[in-house]
Amino acid sequence: MGDWTTVEGDAALAEGAVLNVDLDGASVLLVRHEGCVYALENRCSHDGSEMDGGQIIDGAFVCPHHGARFALADGAALSAPAYEPVTVFPVRVEGGCIQLKDERW
Ligand code: FES
Repeated sequence: MGDWTTVEGDAALAEGAVLNVDLDGASVLLVRHEGCVYALENRCSHDGSEMDGGQIIDGAFVCPHHGARFALADGAALSAPAYEPVTVFPVRVEGGCIQLKDERW
């Protein structure tokens, strides 16, 4: 289990925004929805593309390429053409900073 890593200031992530950050070499999308922060690996389970430009619509993250929807909390695929989840990372806000834990290893 990795340690918590600061990736961004809490104030930098507005409600409904999506920010691309780096976590130990992985591209991660931070999103804030209804005040909570979520972190999804920036790799769509449909074809492996990065999902920069995706949006939060009706409480789910929507891939900009072919419209697959993913649950924010656990990365579950909610609609075709994706059928597998995307990786999500534990998030906490400490001292005004957004911190992630890399549990991929
Ligand atoms: S690459 Fe994301 S839905 Fe196709």
